[in-house]
Amino acid sequence: MIQIGMDYYPEQWDPSLWEEDAARMAALGVKVVRIAEFAWSRMEPREGEFHFEWLDEAIRVLAGHGMRVILGTPTNCPPLWMYQHYPETLQQDRTGQRVFPGIRGHRCMMSPKFRFYARRVVGEMARRYAGRPEIFAWQIDNELESNHCTCPTCRAGFRDFLRQKYHTLDRLNDAWGNVVWSGEYSGWEQIQPPLGPDYETDWMNPAWLQDYERYAAAGTADYVRAQCGWIRQEDPEARITTNSCFPAHLPDFYQEFAPLDVAAYDNYPVGALPRDPEALYSNGFALDFVRSFKQKNFWVLEQLAGPTGCWAPMNPAMEPGMLEGYALQAVAHGADLLSFFRWRTAATGAEMFCHGLLDHDNQPNRRYWELEQLIRRLERYPRLDETALHSEVALLYAPDQEFAFQNKRQSPGFAYWTQLRLLHEGCMNLGVNVDVLPETASLEGYRVALVPTWLMAREELVHRLEDFARRGGTVLLTNRSGVKDEHNNCLLGQPLPGPFRALAGCRVTEYDPIGAERTQQLRSASGQTYAIHTWCDLLEPEGAEVWAAYAGRYYAGTAAITRHRFGGGQCYYVGTVGEKALYRDLLACLFREAGVDMVPGLPPGVELTCRSGPGGRYRFLFNNTMDRQTVHLEGTELELAPLEVRVQTEKGEWQ
Ligand code: GAL
Ligand code: ZN
Repeated sequence: MIQIGMDYYPEQWDPSLWEEDAARMAALGVKVVRIAEFAWSRMEPREGEFHFEWLDEAIRVLAGHGMRVILGTPTNCPPLWMYQHYPETLQQDRTGQRVFPGIRGHRCMMSPKFRFYARRVVGEMARRYAGRPEIFAWQIDNELESNHCTCPTCRAGFRDFLRQKYHTLDRLNDAWGNVVWSGEYSGWEQIQPPLGPDYETDWMNPAWLQDYERYAAAGTADYVRAQCGWIRQEDPEARITTNSCFPAHLPDFYQEFAPLDVAAYDNYPVGALPRDPEALYSNGFALDFVRSFKQKNFWVLEQLAGPTGCWAPMNPAMEPGMLEGYALQAVAHGADLLSFFRWRTAATGAEMFCHGLLDHDNQPNRRYWELEQLIRRLERYPRLDETALHSEVALLYAPDQEFAFQNKRQSPGFAYWTQLRLLHEGCMNLGVNVDVLPETASLEGYRVALVPTWLMAREELVHRLEDFARRGGTVLLTNRSGVKDEHNNCLLGQPLPGPFRALAGCRVTEYDPIGAERTQQLRSASGQTYAIHTWCDLLEPEGAEVWAAYAGRYYAGTAAITRHRFGGGQCYYVGTVGEKALYRDLLACLFREAGVDMVPGLPPGVELTCRSGPGGRYRFLFNNTMDRQTVHLEGTELELAPLEVRVQTEKGEWQ
């Protein structure tokens, strides 16, 4: 059964409301309630003085209505006494200032003092609730970012990290190329995290920034591992996760989730869809990406239930169908639990207009009835959680590539994320399931490996991709692959795409970083014309055939996309960035050759995914647009309302 959950903050409401809230949630069909994540000041109002009676009572009330809880550790929000007594538990920002504790999430997760208190409160909780049947799972902290704190502890940590990696300053200076601008260290104490306002990073050494990002991500992973240990020490059977989002300082999710039992995500798709089909937002990539953290089904711990309005003014009202459509889209991409944010809109605090399911009036509303309809609908598929997405197409992602792109920008508007999204949307548009995979994952069982902008090439991956192609697989590489070494320095003395050259069967003779704003033309060998932008690699085939050539400027006629037969398989190299139609057509061609099942002709913005397994086979057709869409599928004509999801079971009928 797909579990329906609700995010609830009992500490924010008068206890006289709890009973009625619980009864209403249970009547709706809610099975799990996520609580406690920010409530440290109620658990430990004064240092060492613990109060869990209120939490016992809240759990008792919820359990009285047959619901279990996801218990959040409250470590995102230490009480103010901690900052008062131990200012060293406060983060320092990029400018070296201690942050002002007026919002949340101010704690330095590496501070030994903070860890001491965090461990104590988490330990108290875990001891109290260990093994209790009311506890469904644990959530660690909230929406962790990569650790960019610059306090003395974190600075010292950075130096230790480098000492362990390079041992000597000579090696470090050499690896980073510190001779440039007299950046050579003559003492470890000279090493700092990149300080100063963000924009200055453009002037900083990319190798330094790269190792700093790795250190920062490792810190967050270490913090998660530590919290996991604190809980498991008291409750070895505990099921533990943490809720992820995509903040400015992205962690390394693969490391972060390694010690956790299940991946989880806070799913807030945009409230207002753009009209322009070229700019159409698809949340499918985010969901498939989260599924990749543990390469299995995941949970949504915050699912959009009302228009948000906290970090920005309020969003427009949710369109009819949006609550249900986005929730089912998450299921369609592998979610087995959906916990909606939040039961009732806060009456106090910064998020008073970040709408939950119920508005301040506490009355059932349009969104409430839509959620009820969704729950009744999911109840018709009781074994849906015994299915998973199976894919023949892998899309490779690596945090290191992400960091490298951020640390040294390429042409204006060129983003790693965009490259991933374009390929992913191309697959969605053809009704093809995609698995996002970490670099180290096995490609066994896949027919196609999409490898966009693999800036930093590791020999190991190059060999595995060659092997994959040799044994019949299809690889797709794009521009800016094989440019750098593992330190984020440029590879010297070999034409691009560097170590991928043999596989790609072509070389880059020149490149033109035209930027995302400038549009040029491309013509495929079959005579189609496409708009391109951002980047142009001028290719010289070395055994590859030309799939498309540039149609303008001084390089008109020069190869832009090539196809190279390699062993029993092949490799495509895409030297540019194009409009969405290019990816749809290119991928359709490649999938046809590789024998990947697809559904060409889906209207833009319509997604088709499939979950299958012992629980049956389910196809999900989602109209992620604000227009009605007609879809022709296996001889059936289907009309979809804006944001509507249709589900097909083994019986074949679309419900
Ligand atoms: C999430 C966060 C929640 C709440 C929500 C509002 O990012 O985890 O605590 O702030 O956003 O949309
Ligand atoms: Zn710190």
